[in-house]
Amino acid sequence: MTYILGIESSCDETAAAVVINGKTIASNVVASQIDLHAKYGGVFPELASRAHVEAISTVVDQAIHDAAITYDKLDAIAVTRGPGLVGSLLVGLNYAKGLALAANKPLLGINHLEGHIYSLWLTEQHREIVFPVLVLIVSGGHTELLLMTDHGQYERLGSTLDDAAGEAFDKVGRLLGLPFPGGPSIERAAINGNPEAHAFPRPKRDATYDFSFSGLKTAVMREATVMPSAEARRSRGAEKKAQLRSGISVSDVAASFQAALVETLVEKTARAAESYEVTEILMAGGVSANQALRQALRKEANLPVRYPPLNLCTDNGAMIAAAGHYRMLAGLESDWDMEVVPMWPLTNDAYENV
Ligand code: KG4
Ligand code: ZN
Repeated sequence: MTYILGIESSCDETAAAVVINGKTIASNVVASQIDLHAKYGGVFPELASRAHVEAISTVVDQAIHDAAITYDKLDAIAVTRGPGLVGSLLVGLNYAKGLALAANKPLLGINHLEGHIYSLWLTEQHREIVFPVLVLIVSGGHTELLLMTDHGQYERLGSTLDDAAGEAFDKVGRLLGLPFPGGPSIERAAINGNPEAHAFPRPKRDATYDFSFSGLKTAVMREATVMPSAEARRSRGAEKKAQLRSGISVSDVAASFQAALVETLVEKTARAAESYEVTEILMAGGVSANQALRQALRKEANLPVRYPPLNLCTDNGAMIAAAGHYRMLAGLESDWDMEVVPMWPLTNDAYENV
């Protein structure tokens, strides 16, 4: 049995977990900074790194405690090395280095996107995952369509050319005056809305597997908001930002936006799954929590679709530990001089090129 401690701090969650054999979660602790960033309507990088510094030792100790083990029981320490916010990544990596040195354990620097993928291995499997599989990663920072032919083997089929899917949710949420993060808020607002109320564009409907969501965001802004008049903007104390058009239904806009985004993701994913003859589709990342997306993908794809349980869709340490397990099996060695990699595409030789 291998015990791996996974540490994650790439964005706004300080998280740690212990995973046994790359599969069984012995503990999973997540300290979210959502409340801290909510008043800014987005993640504030400087505040994020400070909050990681404050939380990390408590979170990691708690993960060890909850797993009812001690540090010497660990076989390795896995930590997110990138992609992500540089200051946030540094906190996790430096902490993990210190722990690994002190406890004399191997250190594994993990790609956060690979972590999201391995959240799919953390559930009790009725069926083993058989390669090749198609992977759709939809998170706050990334939208990636990958062909995964074996553990650690990825062919990048497409990705977003501008905003990530989660980023689009967050920006539209802010536009509509909904609480941060926008994804869950829009999903909630959309329940009572009419997805056909507004005909938003289905962006980048072409033969590629790339995505583009910034035009969709602009279309929502044009349809749902108005800028205050030049006169109002000049006057003291007046609201200077775009405001919701009067009479507009937030629920209808949310539902119509969500429908446009979901349809684009699903169309390309289903088409890629067919052309690459995969056994199934794996979806991971924060946006994979979205029920409309899950339903549409299940309906449109002629293949089984797998997504993580809700608590493993957003950032967590368990997924990093699980990815670490497979990297350790593949012989990834400790490099005590390793540095953070804020931009780090997931490819076959991801780990060789940094
Ligand atoms: O994977 P994640 O925790 O962080 C990154 O690696 O970026 O994803 C966070 C993103 C946010 O943009 C959030 O709005 C989105 O996931 N999200 C959702 C839902 N839950 C979280 N988007 C749509 N529907 C949801 N239910
Ligand atoms: Zn993430």
